[in-house]
Amino acid sequence: MELRDKVIVITGASSGFGEQIARRCAAAGARLVLAARSPAPLERLAGELGAREGRALAVPTDVGSAADVERLAATALERFGHVDVLVANAGFGVFDPIARARVEDLEEMLDVNVVGVARSVKAFLPDMLRRRSGHVVVMSSGMGLVATKNMGYYSASKHALVGLARTLMVELEGTGVRCALLCPGLAATGFQQRSGWEQYPRITRWFSCTSEQVADATVRAIRRRTHGEVLVPWYEWLTSLYDLAPGLFRLVLRVVG
Ligand SMILES: NC(=O)c1ccc[n+]([C@@H]2O[C@H](COP(=O)([O-])OP(=O)(O)OC[C@H]3O[C@@H](n4cnc5c(N)ncnc54)[C@H](OP(=O)(O)O)[C@@H]3O)[C@@H](O)[C@H]2O)c1
Repeated sequence: MELRDKVIVITGASSGFGEQIARRCAAAGARLVLAARSPAPLERLAGELGAREGRALAVPTDVGSAADVERLAATALERFGHVDVLVANAGFGVFDPIARARVEDLEEMLDVNVVGVARSVKAFLPDMLRRRSGHVVVMSSGMGLVATKNMGYYSASKHALVGLARTLMVELEGTGVRCALLCPGLAATGFQQRSGWEQYPRITRWFSCTSEQVADATVRAIRRRTHGEVLVPWYEWLTSLYDLAPGLFRLVLRVVG
């Protein structure tokens, strides 16, 4: 798909993957609606990507708030008339062993990482279905496909997203609307401000990548209108080991850490 003049909504656009995706989409001529909670970095980015020319719009949004997400959709549709692509990317992680982890952190991650995506999809999907055209991109994680130590609650939220996106893929067959599920490995972004580097198990280095690689893969998925799963970097061998020989996978984790 040619991105020129396409209308793309990105949640979590002020930093990390979302910012890199926004920059690439703007460079390809797309019109952008940028959402995140903090207005200042969002306005700055929108300014850089064409706010004055009406090509980028910052809409401060907490995806944990139903009212905010409804306002985001209403604002985007009012300004541009329709939305071609939703990149549901906003999310965060808090890492701790489950015995020590705070259930409040799980509640917050479920509300932002899972319900936040569900809210966003619900806000934009009806119009896409009416138009029989659109693309929903869901940002999960490698932690949505495998389990390692210290990431249990985050992993639970990202596994839930995998279920949500896979279901969307089934339900959207034949509707003209598509769904891509992105599952990146570890990448250095603002994400580690909350998750902390010290809790990452060593095995996560095996499928680490850069935010540039994730953004490139996401934009490629948008251009191709991918209806399926995208792993960044390529680590299918690891998910296959996890699915086919879970005991062996755990043994590897014990050895590697
Ligand atoms: N970095 C990694 O290793 C990695 C790996 C796999 C998957 N992921 C996933 O990729 C996505 C993006 O993460 P990132 O690495 O780019 O992290 P990041 O640099 O911290 O960016 C997160 C973005 O989400 C926004 N955000 C957080 N909570 C929000 C909320 N309640 N409502 C709206 N926006 C919110 C943040 O802005 P505000 O704080 O201003 O709201 C920021 O723009 C997340 O879903 C994360 O789980 C990350």
